[in-house]
Amino acid sequence: MNHRNDHRLILFPLPFQGHINPMLQLGRILYARGFSITILHTNFNAPDPSSHPHFAFRSIADGVDQSEVAKLDVFGLISLLNTQCASPFEESLREMTSLQGGEAAPIACLISDSLFSFTCSVAERLKVRALMLRTGCASCLYFYTKCPVLKEKYVPTHGSRLQEAVKEFPPLLVRDIPAVDSKEPELLFRLLDDLIKTIKSSPGVIFNTFEELEHPALASLREVLSVPFFPIGPSHKFCVKSSSSSLLAEDRSCISWLDKQPPKSVIYVSFGSLAAMNEAEILEIALGLAYSGQPFLWVVRPGSVHDLEWLEKSPSCFLEALEGRGKIVKWAPQKEVLAHLAVGAFWTHNGWNSTLESISEGVPMLCMPCFADQGVNARYVSDVWRIGVHLNGGLERENIARAIKRLLVEREGEEIRERALVLKEKASASVRQGGSSYQALDALVNHILSLK
Ligand code: UDX
Repeated sequence: MNHRNDHRLILFPLPFQGHINPMLQLGRILYARGFSITILHTNFNAPDPSSHPHFAFRSIADGVDQSEVAKLDVFGLISLLNTQCASPFEESLREMTSLQGGEAAPIACLISDSLFSFTCSVAERLKVRALMLRTGCASCLYFYTKCPVLKEKYVPTHGSRLQEAVKEFPPLLVRDIPAVDSKEPELLFRLLDDLIKTIKSSPGVIFNTFEELEHPALASLREVLSVPFFPIGPSHKFCVKSSSSSLLAEDRSCISWLDKQPPKSVIYVSFGSLAAMNEAEILEIALGLAYSGQPFLWVVRPGSVHDLEWLEKSPSCFLEALEGRGKIVKWAPQKEVLAHLAVGAFWTHNGWNSTLESISEGVPMLCMPCFADQGVNARYVSDVWRIGVHLNGGLERENIARAIKRLLVEREGEEIRERALVLKEKASASVRQGGSSYQALDALVNHILSLK
């Protein structure tokens, strides 16, 4: 590859799997467009440089220690990272800018995760332009712009009122609002406030979504925020052969297991990199999968089950229920799994990456959102795009089995799959030459080159 080494990009991902993946995908795309890429990262959840030999890596000392991590939820951790990373980030960026002009290529711009709220002002001080990568969907960001008003009216809400409609934002239900029944929703709403301010002050925002999927939200956001937007998703579909940016080792034995299953028969079950369950919930899932009678591939991430040390200490009925019918792994090559012909549906927590990866392969979803943007994502899947169903009625074995059969066996599931396949085709078309995301990528490259 003939490299345009006079243009270097500094990419700064938020150190969580759901944020590292889209940032490194973006790095690969922009590398293919001739930019040199430096990944600036925290020591906490550091990516593996050996999987990305074309990138330079540079770490900052975040000062986060593991005992602190164990005490915090993800919002607390994001706040902590924002407090602790600001000065080491500034120091590192200053050092990089001072090296310019010598051996090092000049910095064309910084691309930061939009949940890092300090990067814009630090970059401005150092005369570096800072674009933002928003890893969630546009519809949810549009919803966040309305949160200051909506939270006054709806948060907190408990009990049956959670099923009511949010009249100001159809088709959302009150229960889809992030942290709606939390005792301490303030921390999350402060983060969302900062997010909107950061995005407003940026010279451009990159989205991992595509115009055909989210045109109404993108149009509204353009009006409300007046910032140039670049919807270039699904970004993993630009990379012909994408290298893994997984923080956990992928267990590839599930692919040969899938090879032996009938087409469209398997329910793939994974709740991303952060969601956790208790022992009773995990048992209910196991029994629901067993009752469904369908083959299943289930990711049980180490640390995802409170009070249960992986499967070794699991009760015997749990293992008996699963015997012979499924495959359990600690971490899967998810994109490859979703693209496999044997997979007929995805039981997901609707993190945005998982949702978009499922859309990209035309796989219908069983939605079980857990926190943050996931409630909004799931509502769009079930009620707007109509490519999935909610696990209404709760995490209960009979209910789970019924929902799986709705998707994999019944006529309703076939109709959902037909709609999912139409969206899959739109997603593929968007990244082909002339497609909307392809054009947005061209525009992004020109935008970066025009930044002074
Ligand atoms: C988090 C938030 O929960 C999510 O709501 C937000 O939109 C992004 O950050 P996470 O919960 O990990 O992310 O979910 P998701 O966004 O779906 O990202 C998980 C990533 O891990 C996906 O890219 C998925 O392909 C990958 N993955 C997951 C694997 O590679 N293997 C697995 O076994 C499970």
